Amino acid sequence: MDVSIAMTVNGKEAKVTTDPKRPLLDVLREDLQLTGAKYGCGEGRCRGCTVLMEGKPVLSCITPVSAADKKSIVTIEGLAKGDALHPVQEAFLAEGAMQCGYCTPGMIMQTVALLEENPHPTDAEIVEKMNGSLCRCIGYPKILSAIRRAANPSAEVKVP
Ligand code: FES
Ligand code: FES
Repeated sequence: MDVSIAMTVNGKEAKVTTDPKRPLLDVLREDLQLTGAKYGCGEGRCRGCTVLMEGKPVLSCITPVSAADKKSIVTIEGLAKGDALHPVQEAFLAEGAMQCGYCTPGMIMQTVALLEENPHPTDAEIVEKMNGSLCRCIGYPKILSAIRRAANPSAEVKVP
């Protein structure tokens, strides 16, 4: 039976009436036309679908939309402020940390959550937190560079 779900998505109220077991990812992409979060594996193994719920990263492909009721959700579409990209988005662009770009929204949302929790992570801490975020183009060195740059925008950062 369908139920009514009320969320705040990227700062705006969003109400949907739907099957409470539907994945949050499907509701975001199909009902709210927010297609930034990507369907990769659909079973919690790639993190391409990462969004923030109450500031924490969640895998929206395995999160039922009922879990988002009365919660605040942020997707990649909600990071920029007008024409100003989020610093993590700027860092990914500056480092060219994308090839096909399919994993990029999930990588960026994971990075935003990582830096919120730990603004100046070591490489080991970055690897630990990003472990599980898969890039089929194997763009990991540039992704690491981008995360370093986002954590320390004024420094020259290069992967050795
Ligand atoms: S699509 Fe959600 S973890 Fe892969
Ligand atoms: S850039 Fe293609 S999957 Fe990561």
